[in-house]
Order: sequence, then structure tokens, then C-alpha cells
Amino acid sequence: MSLRTSPPTHIPVLLQETIQALAVQPGGRYIDCTLGAGGHAAAILDHNSPGGQLLSIDADPEAIKIAKARLEAYSNSTLLINENFANLQAICIKYDFYPVHGILFDLGLSSLQLDSNGRGFSFQHDAPLDMRLNPSQDVTAADIVNTFTETELAHLIKTFGEEGHSRQIAHHIVQKRPIRTTLQLVQTIEQSIGSRRGKLHPATKTFQALRIAVNRELEHLESALKQAINLLGFKGKLVVISYHSLEDRIVKRFMYHESRDCVCPPGIPTCVCGHTASLRLINKKVITPSPDEVELNPRSRSAKLRTAEHIITHDEQYTTLEKLCVSMKGENNGWRKPVLLKRLQQVFLTS
Ligand SMILES: C[S@@+](CC[C@H](N)C(=O)[O-])C[C@H]1O[C@@H](n2cnc3c(N)ncnc32)[C@H](O)[C@@H]1O
Repeated sequence: MSLRTSPPTHIPVLLQETIQALAVQPGGRYIDCTLGAGGHAAAILDHNSPGGQLLSIDADPEAIKIAKARLEAYSNSTLLINENFANLQAICIKYDFYPVHGILFDLGLSSLQLDSNGRGFSFQHDAPLDMRLNPSQDVTAADIVNTFTETELAHLIKTFGEEGHSRQIAHHIVQKRPIRTTLQLVQTIEQSIGSRRGKLHPATKTFQALRIAVNRELEHLESALKQAINLLGFKGKLVVISYHSLEDRIVKRFMYHESRDCVCPPGIPTCVCGHTASLRLINKKVITPSPDEVELNPRSRSAKLRTAEHIITHDEQYTTLEKLCVSMKGENNGWRKPVLLKRLQQVFLTS
């Protein structure tokens, strides 16, 4: 287990590319759904001043605490919310923060979480098998490891970890239970499939699977992407950085689906779905870090950045936003219409 001498830091990934993709402009209003250590947030705030605003969300209360200190100089233009981005729409409506020029998701974990000794995210530190982003969540990794059946564990490790040896690992886990710490789990995995397999540590995929399950990561991502569309103004940018193929597949499919006018299965002569495109793909080819960035920050190596632009015009968007406000706040829409329309038109005049 590694000994750390300096405090952990997080280097924001694809920073310049993200600011460019979001097309951050002075006076612009943005949402950072994954605040982390505040690296991307600080850069957005540097570029959207004067007059810009940023709403930042993180499920991890520790991340909010750390980023709050870092972003102190911008305290007048930023809102930091300790919430899950699965509640994106409700958060924005609660804080009256819509429509926006851009929304960022920088998925996964920050180095602060991975390198923290007590959270159980990393197989490189011995810690209780926890893995919750927020300590108020009910289910820990230990709960899953010690209560799922062998078949359920194998399925989970295969589905969320894309681990080819899921059955062997699940079998060994069940033999060794109870397993309470990351070290016990690593040893169990090494006993089942050996201690070295190419470049990847043998525990990498099982740890990924457990983390995804504990935090319902894929489910929350799918839900938040759908909600994000409604909050973007005309030409607003949706930017997502993902770090593994399960996340990237969701983002890619979502953006592709939302950029098509018809999503009927092939072979149907006339459209019956009635679907209309709400996004335009900006970089059809995914953006990845340069070799220099990977050398400086090896954790960036698997990053993939995708961008899409909202193409719903002000009038159409008004109807969606109005419906949302009414459904969430239960308010009469009479007084909101002029306010919302003015915002939609004015905020995006420069776009
Ligand atoms: C890769 S880090 C972001 C790093 C950040 N961009 C920076 O430059 O410092 C991802 C962050 O997203 C948070 N996160 C992951 N899933 C989340 C969710 N469903 N809701 C809210 N925050 C989430 C994690 O707690 C973590 O702090």
C-alpha cells in the first residue's frame, strides 16, 4: 500500500479543449455537474467574467468543501450545490438557474477521491469497502460484496466492469466472505485470477463495477443527460468527458439519438416516431488528450470528450421550460412567461 508524502491534487483533464467546446463567453451562464476539485470550474469562471455565473454540483460533500476554498475569489458568481446530478432539473429550477450557455460533465472520480485513504475507491490503499460518493447513501460496496449471490456478483462484475473472469472472481469472493476492506478484496481477486495481467491491475475492473453499482453511475448519467437538454438555451453546448467505455457508449448513443429527426427502426417506410432533433453534434470525432497531457497526467489517458449544441429555438424552448417549471414548482405560469422569454432572448443574443 502506497505511502503519500504530499497532499493529493487533481489535474483537470482536457482543460483548454473543454473551455473551447463550451465556447465560454463573458457574461455567460454555465453548469458544472461534476465540480470535483474545481479545476474546470475555475477555468470557466476565468473565462465567463465579467458578469458570468456558474452553478456547480457534486455529490461528494468533501469535494464541495475543497472546491469552495479554491473558488473563494469567485464567490459572487458561483453557486456550489452538494447534490446528485441525477436531480439536475430540480436543482436548476430551485435556484432559478436556466437557461444556460453550457453544461459540463467530467465523469468519474477526482484524484482526491481516488487517493484518499479512507473512501475505499482505490485498490492501492487499504480502507473499508465503502465507495459511496456521499456518505448519506444507503448501500456500500461491502453490502454488495457480502450479500449478493455468486450469480448476481458475477453478473455485476461482468456488466459494470466488463471483466472476462467475473465468474471466477465472484466464486472466490463468496468463499472468502465476509470481506470488509479493499485489501481483502484485492487479495481475493489476486487469488482467483493471478496478481498480474498486462498493464491493468487485476482488481481494476471489479473495483470499477462495484463503484458504478454503489453510486448507480450509469443510471444517473442517462437521466442527467436527458434533463440537461431542457436547460440549454439555443446554441447552448453540452460537453461530456468520459473515462470508460460504458460511460462513453451512453454519451455517444444519447448525442446521436438526440441529433436525429427520426429514430424509427430501419426499414420503416414512413416515420412513425415523431422524434425531432434537439442537438447537433459538434465534434463527430471524439477528442482525446495529447501524448503530452497523458505524460503529465497519466489519469487522463482514457478520457474522451464529446460535444453537442442545442438547436431548439427560443420559442420552442419556452414551452419546455414553462412545462418544467409548472410540473416542478406547481406554479401558475402567467407571470413567468415574459420573464422566461426575455431571458431566453437576451441571454442568447450574443450566441
Ligand atoms: C473527475 S471529477 C471532476 C473533476 C473536476 N472537473 C476538476 O477539474 O476538478 C468527477 C466529480 O464528479 C462527482 N460526481 C460523480 N458522479 C456524480 C453524480 N452523479 N452527481 C454529482 N456529482 C458526481 C464526483 O464526486 C467527482 O468529484
